Amino acid sequence: MLRHGVSDSKDPFHWPVLGTTGKNSASLRTVILRQFILPERVLVCHTDARTDKVHEITKSAEVCWLFYHPKKKVQLRISGHATLHADDQFADRQWAGTRITSRLNYCTTEPPGTFIDKPSSGLPDFLLKKIPTLLESERGRKYFMAIACRIDSMDWLILKAFGNRRARFDWDENGLTAKWLIP
Ligand SMILES: Cc1cc2nc3c(=O)[nH]c(=O)nc-3n(C[C@H](O)[C@H](O)[C@H](O)COP(=O)(O)O)c2cc1C
Repeated sequence: MLRHGVSDSKDPFHWPVLGTTGKNSASLRTVILRQFILPERVLVCHTDARTDKVHEITKSAEVCWLFYHPKKKVQLRISGHATLHADDQFADRQWAGTRITSRLNYCTTEPPGTFIDKPSSGLPDFLLKKIPTLLESERGRKYFMAIACRIDSMDWLILKAFGNRRARFDWDENGLTAKWLIP
């Protein structure tokens, strides 16, 4: 399901919630699942290096992911250790795979979350209302960041009319431990 979530933008697993540790509470936001790397169990999403989530991961690298598939009624809660990639080969490869239109997400003049006087995309004038050229899209590389998260544990839940089922999966240096739980 995770693999399918990467490749199919209509699949609910394409849009997980990523949770980090905020200042006073949990900090949640929707992201796009960009890659699922096996056998390393690494989930990847992309972001702007100036966002709060990046500052939060810098302080505490333990993150959570929430996936829910309404048709299959499957919930996945995943925890793991995140690493940030701005200026390395991993980030270069991820950047090379991005769509030109997606690159606009990393092109705002001011950092995401900056207060402004009136509604605006924050993009510079020359990028407004057009698909950027390849050269123009390279402006986004400076602030592009890939977040890679190695899965350490997973809580799987499926809702069934005649009884739900829940399981827990934990990975450590000795391998995988899997256990059933009362839902
Ligand atoms: C459907 C959807 C997909 C999104 N995908 C991403 C994404 O892949 N990466 C990202 O940084 N923000 C994405 N966002 C925006 C985030 O939810 C969030 O508003 C933004 O990243 C700022 O979050 P932060 O201030 O907590 O870092 C998406 C929002 C929506 C509604």
